[in-house]
Amino acid sequence: MAEGIGALLMDEVVPALDKAGGKVTVVGVGQVGMACAFSMLTQSICSELALVDMAADKLRGEMLDLQHGVIFLKNIKIDASTDYAVSAGSRVCIITAGARQKEGESRLSLVQRNTDIFKGIIPQLIKHSPDTILIIVSNPVDILTYVAQKVSGLPKNRVIGSGCNLDSARFRFHLSQRLNIAPNSAHGWIIGEHGDSSVPVWSGVNVAGVRLRDLNPLIGAKDDPDKFDQLHKEVVNSAYEIIKLKGYTSWAIGLSVASLTSSIMKNQRRCYSVSVNVQGHHGITEDVFLSLPSVLGENGVTHIIKQTLTDAEVHQLQASAKTLWEVQQGLKF
Ligand SMILES: NC(=O)c1ccc[n+]([C@@H]2O[C@H](COP(=O)([O-])OP(=O)(O)OC[C@H]3O[C@@H](n4cnc5c(N)ncnc54)[C@H](O)[C@@H]3O)[C@@H](O)[C@H]2O)c1
Repeated sequence: MAEGIGALLMDEVVPALDKAGGKVTVVGVGQVGMACAFSMLTQSICSELALVDMAADKLRGEMLDLQHGVIFLKNIKIDASTDYAVSAGSRVCIITAGARQKEGESRLSLVQRNTDIFKGIIPQLIKHSPDTILIIVSNPVDILTYVAQKVSGLPKNRVIGSGCNLDSARFRFHLSQRLNIAPNSAHGWIIGEHGDSSVPVWSGVNVAGVRLRDLNPLIGAKDDPDKFDQLHKEVVNSAYEIIKLKGYTSWAIGLSVASLTSSIMKNQRRCYSVSVNVQGHHGITEDVFLSLPSVLGENGVTHIIKQTLTDAEVHQLQASAKTLWEVQQGLKF
C-alpha cells in the first residue's frame, strides 16, 4: 500500500470491529442455516459470523453474497470454509446441517442419517471452540440434541435444541389471528417433542393475565365449542403444509434461532420453550431432551421453569420421553 494511504489507516479512520458481540458459527448453509445467518446479521447479534458446510461452491457463494451486504450492516466479519478451523473461538455454534424432511416424511425418520452427520461435525466444533454453546436445529431436533450432548461431552446446560420455540411462535400467531391482537400479546406455550406429539399448555394460555380457560373451561379439548383445539392441529401441520407448498421451511425458524442466540450472546435471560435435558422434571426418568420453558443466558440454560401442568399434560410429556428413549436405544453412535 502507498505510504500516504497507510497513514490514513493508521489514523484509524476505519472503525475497529465491535468485538463485544463475539463469534457465532452456523454449520449447514442450506435454507435453514442461511435464514438463521441472515436473521442474526440484520439484528447485529454477533460481531463475527463463520459459515461451514461440505458443499464448497455453495458455501463460498453464500459467503460472498453476504459479505457484499456488510456495508449495510454493523461491520460484521463474515468468513466461510469447509475447514472447521474457521469456527475457532465461537461462543455459539448453530447446527442446521443434515437431511431435511421430504414431503410427507416424519421428523423421526431422519434420525440415523443425521446422527451419522453429527458424528463428523460435533468433534470438529468442540476441538476449535471447547467452551462453546451448541444450538441444534437439524431434525429430529430432540434426539439430535441428545446425540450432540453425548458426542460433544459438553455439560447439559450448554447443549440446546431449538425444540418447540418455533411451535410456540406458530401457536401464538394462530391464537393472535383468532383474537385479532398482536402475536406477542397472545401468550401460550407448546412444550414436549418438537412436532407431532407436542403438548399445548392450554391451562396457561392468556391475554394480559386473563386465562382463556377461566372463560371457556373446555378450551383446547376435543369437545371445545369454540374449537380452539384446531389451533394446535394447525401448529402440528405447519411444517408439512409449508414443505408441500414451498419445499422447505426457513424464515420463521431462522428468526426463532436468532432470538435464542441473542439471549445467549447478550445474556438477556429470556425464557423460551427449547429442548433441554428433562431427566428428573415432571416425573421423567429417561435421559432425553424435550422442550420446557427455559431461561437462556451467557452460560446456556440457567433455569428450567417449573410449570403447573395438568395430569394429562404430564402424561403426554412422559409418553414422548418414552418414545424418544426407545428411538435413542436403536441409534448407532
Ligand atoms: N428444529 C426446527 O424447528 C427445524 C425447522 C426447519 C428445518 N429443520 C431442520 O433443519 C435441517 C436443515 O434443513 P434445510 O432446509 O436447511 O436443508 P438443506 O438441504 O437446504 O441444507 C442442509 C445443508 O447441510 C449441509 N450438510 C449436509 N451434510 C453435511 C455435513 N456432513 N457437514 C456439513 N454440512 C453438511 C448440506 O450441504 C446443505 O447445505 C433439516 O434437518 C431440517 O429438518 C429444523
